[in-house]
Amino acid sequence: MDIIQAAERIAELRKEIECHNHLYYIDAKPELSDYEFDKLLQQLVDIERQFPDLVTPESPSQRVGGAITKEFVSVIHREPMLSLSNTYSLGEVEEFYNRLKKLLALEGVGEQEMVAELKFDGVAISLLYRDGLLVRGATRGDGMQGDDITVNIRTIPTIPLKLRGGADGEVEVRGEVFMRKEDFDQLNESRPEEDRFANPRNATAGALKLQDSAEVARRKMSFIAYYLKGLSDESITHFTRLDYLEKFGFSTGRHYRLCRELKDINEFIAEWSEQRWMLPYETDGVVLKLNAVTLRDKLGATAKSPRWAIAYKYPAQQAQTVLHDVIFQVGRLGSITPVAELEPVQLAGSTVSRSTLHNFDEIERLGLMIHDRVIIEKSGEVIPKVISVVLEARPSDVLPVVVPSHCPECGTPLAKRESEVGYHCPNEEECPAQIRGRVLHFASRNAMDIKSLGKALVDQLVAIKLVKDVGDLYFLQEPQLESLERMGRKSAQNLLRALDESRAQNYERLLYSLGIRHVGRATARQLSQACPSLDALILATEEQLSNIADIGPVVARSVIGYVAKPSAQSLFQKLGDAGLQLGTSASTVLINSNFEGLTVLFTGALDRYTRNQASELVIERGGRIVESVSKKTGLVVAGHDAGSKLDKALKLGVKVLSEGEFEGML
Ligand code: IVH
Repeated sequence: MDIIQAAERIAELRKEIECHNHLYYIDAKPELSDYEFDKLLQQLVDIERQFPDLVTPESPSQRVGGAITKEFVSVIHREPMLSLSNTYSLGEVEEFYNRLKKLLALEGVGEQEMVAELKFDGVAISLLYRDGLLVRGATRGDGMQGDDITVNIRTIPTIPLKLRGGADGEVEVRGEVFMRKEDFDQLNESRPEEDRFANPRNATAGALKLQDSAEVARRKMSFIAYYLKGLSDESITHFTRLDYLEKFGFSTGRHYRLCRELKDINEFIAEWSEQRWMLPYETDGVVLKLNAVTLRDKLGATAKSPRWAIAYKYPAQQAQTVLHDVIFQVGRLGSITPVAELEPVQLAGSTVSRSTLHNFDEIERLGLMIHDRVIIEKSGEVIPKVISVVLEARPSDVLPVVVPSHCPECGTPLAKRESEVGYHCPNEEECPAQIRGRVLHFASRNAMDIKSLGKALVDQLVAIKLVKDVGDLYFLQEPQLESLERMGRKSAQNLLRALDESRAQNYERLLYSLGIRHVGRATARQLSQACPSLDALILATEEQLSNIADIGPVVARSVIGYVAKPSAQSLFQKLGDAGLQLGTSASTVLINSNFEGLTVLFTGALDRYTRNQASELVIERGGRIVESVSKKTGLVVAGHDAGSKLDKALKLGVKVLSEGEFEGML
């Protein structure tokens, strides 16, 4: 293929891909299977790779992201991005409507139409197109000035990189980026509990500001447009502009309506108060806008919001139900959380039968008793809350909520930490709930990402004591797994394979996966850079750790306390024996593969290398370092004065090399 043929084929493929993209995401009428679609995209990527000069920013191949942004550049909006004045009262909507009519009458303008739209619960952005091509995507920021997040914006499939039918000059489109409920649930399920987002809006706001655009692409966001500026005819009404947006390839949600009088507005609000729960995304109200764009300037704006529009917000949804019981859950760090068990009730589009009560103070604050009638509410949060007790309806058989004195899982007397409101189970090592929590955290996506290790399986493994800590996972045998419930031979093999693959996860992830209190992903990264191996971490003092950027004394103490525990030491031993990455090798380039897949143990002193240098040499050649000998150890390098480890290696028949032989192998 020469460059001319390539350019032609690229143009064809791009057109075809964008067409199918639109059919899939906007029209929801896909004509290709995912597989066929991916094949087309792959063809495009392949040709573009051969002819890199032909790659352009509007190519659908650019949607997968990849660019890393250190800091987003600030940009000034063409026109300020105002927000809307909000109201929860239908009376105020009427006042707004009458005021608008009066103001327009003063200008000699007669009856006007309004457009009623849904208020999408996401994050507002502005898109700038030049001659039909997307050139900039920015956040709202303070309304005058936002951040240029174009690289992240390009990954959103419902944002056209090129306007359908083209458009001359500069066109600005504004709208809302959001996460569909389904995509949000999936994202949250893949995250450990403490990293979950409270609602799709928070998840979206976080994703738009990520530095790694490939990760943004994975977050699956959507876009709905509600503003268009830059048409040659400025007198086109808002309603018609929404049509134009559709023609340009955007989604508008299509749930807007022209309202001629107040009655129409009220009807729209009433209809959508229930219907909105059927939508695949979240909405929190209705926006009313003057249809005649040219008249908007006559009305002007206050400092923050225009006089030609208003947002009516639906009140938070509430329901009344009965509190059957309060149960107590034990988290992976031992904290006890009271959970309300409720008579199932419909609320905001789903059935609610449980709700967290956060802590014991909350129960006291609410004055909650078992069998009480309670009001639950779902507002911006996905998880409903108990907000009050209906005291007038308190039945005579109410029972107090008894704070447990012992762990509901293992029976150990509960304790209280100084700085915390709640109680916790101090039986860290053996409490099955804490073990289950640690194993699930270890296996979660951002941790070791062991996909086939789900909740039901972890429950079983811990219940029959096959797994007492995460190290035990790596010593599971196929026959043991096969005999478990719902676990045939195939699933057993899948799990073993997934576990095997997870051995290659880097040290930074491993540190995070251990689930040390206060060690999130960012802290794990800092720690792994400052202490490049678990051995180094064990030797670090509290003072040294506190000196690491972003690590304060609380985190430092937590880490020191963790590594000093005998259970942690034996866990590290197991993980080392299992061949996990107990040190950093992220930046190591493979020099050769002479140690590929081998676990190597050093014992005694070498003449020409320090232990660290020798270890590096092995890692650079594909090997892994372990600290104790077992039958599975691949190789032992014995220096001077090698002692018991050498004896053991010889006894187990592990291959032993001298320093010279080791050098030969390098
Ligand atoms: S119009 C001046 N239309 O609500 C008019 N906004 O408080 C500006 N929003 O920042 C926006 N759905 O994030 C408009 N159909 C809709 C909307 C909408 C959601 C958000 C948007 C804006 C905020 C205004």
